[in-house]
Amino acid sequence: MTRKHYALFGRPIGHSLSPRIHAAFARQTGISLDYAAHDCGATEFSQRLAAFAENGGAGANITQPLKSVAFTYAGTLGASAQRAGVVNTLTRRGDAWHGDNTDGAGLVRDLTERLGLDLRGRRTLMLGAGGAAAGVLPALLDAGVESVTLVNRTSQRAELLSERHDDPRRVHARYWEDLATLGAFDFVVDATSVGHGADAIDLPFAITSARTLAVSLSYGAAASRFLAWARAAGCSDVHDGLGMLIEQAAESFEIWHVVRPDTTPLHRDLHADRSEAALLATD
Ligand code: ATR
Repeated sequence: MTRKHYALFGRPIGHSLSPRIHAAFARQTGISLDYAAHDCGATEFSQRLAAFAENGGAGANITQPLKSVAFTYAGTLGASAQRAGVVNTLTRRGDAWHGDNTDGAGLVRDLTERLGLDLRGRRTLMLGAGGAAAGVLPALLDAGVESVTLVNRTSQRAELLSERHDDPRRVHARYWEDLATLGAFDFVVDATSVGHGADAIDLPFAITSARTLAVSLSYGAAASRFLAWARAAGCSDVHDGLGMLIEQAAESFEIWHVVRPDTTPLHRDLHADRSEAALLATD
């Protein structure tokens, strides 16, 4: 069987579990592939992606900060990417890339099917308006959240994202500085990349109540400050983005290989690894 080439492009990606996840899916389904992580910023992305295609690259996952740029490189788009305006999955079709977005489906599947949470009717706050926020927003609306309030450090980006959805009753932008005045939300999603840097995230406890579901779209060390904040705020359910990562990878895998992998063993293994690491860290 010919070995096919897949890759992840983004920065930072040193921490990424995606190569391990795709390798496990490949073993499970008997498909011969390699999947490499390419540390790549916006300036060199076009050239690196073209070189990847020339060397037989069949598909790529795209992460921060390249999801909007990837949207513009796709010759054709699936419905999920079209709606989101950002791409996290590229598939080589002939001489061009086809773009999809599997983030939203991955997040909703993890929260509703694996964790058994009901998202319907939740007043939702989205922190961030970059590629991750844009990617999950349509799926959250489809899952029945009551509304999504978007706040972003750069307020204009939140306004642009809310305008894209053109549904002022359900999607609206507010200023980050006004967070303390917005009341408590049922669901707070951290879609910022702030956890990858040294900056602290300054959030008022007033946006939460004991019923709040708090979810970071990051995982590992990048999620830890938001999760600690959410626990300190007394949120009832606090989750990182590890489950979403596994589920969005399964969606991408299915697009590329037309076979759906069983994600259960990976959830078990990766969540167990994380618990072990946490135990060691608190020793
Ligand atoms: P991703 O694909 O992970 O969303 P991105 O498109 O680069 O990556 O977006 C990063 C998000 O994190 C943006 O919402 C960004 O806010 P700005 O639009 O103002 O840049 C947010 N972010 C990054 N660092 C931040 C910080 N220190 N404080 C608050 N928000 C931050």
